[in-house]
Amino acid sequence: METHIPTRQEAFELLCKYNSNESLIKHALAVEVVMRYMARKYGENEEKWGIIGLVHDLDYERYPDEHCRKSPELLRNAGWPEEYIRAVVSHGWGICSDVEPLSGLEKTLYAVDELTGLVVTSALVRPSRSVLDMEASSVKKKWKDKRFAAGVNREVIEKGAALLGVDLTQLITDTILAMRTKAREIGLEGNL
Ligand SMILES: [Fe+2]
Ligand SMILES: [Fe+2]
Repeated sequence: METHIPTRQEAFELLCKYNSNESLIKHALAVEVVMRYMARKYGENEEKWGIIGLVHDLDYERYPDEHCRKSPELLRNAGWPEEYIRAVVSHGWGICSDVEPLSGLEKTLYAVDELTGLVVTSALVRPSRSVLDMEASSVKKKWKDKRFAAGVNREVIEKGAALLGVDLTQLITDTILAMRTKAREIGLEGNL
């Protein structure tokens, strides 16, 4: 297939072609909405940032042992530009890829991927089970508790914030504000 700029519709169809797990789809939507929010904040291309966020874990469900290594093939076969593919692979820097996040888009994806997971887990233990009435302090309280959301690598988030040169609390606040805008779709409306 010839290389072209993918649409959001195309990206979502590709995501659903390779993923059926509900929590993985919700994670993809969460990362998309945060990427869109950040793109708007920094005056960048919202559509591009969102689409890359949406497919960043494309290969994870079917090829967990080849995470970040299978996605380039899947995206190339679908005619996606190399710029998009590089960004997708860079989210696994130091974990499943050696592609360092360099652009603002890549650094943002790297920083917010794990953070969305921590926001989800922090919201679900609240009485409201919601992100709508949650603040950054709820997430920060759980930061040093290694047993809480044990799968979330805090160091990656801190490294991401440092790469971006942004304050960690501000990054958490922006991520929460972004996720509130799609709370229902990502299962974080709770009982509010
Ligand atoms: Fe990943
Ligand atoms: Fe992810």
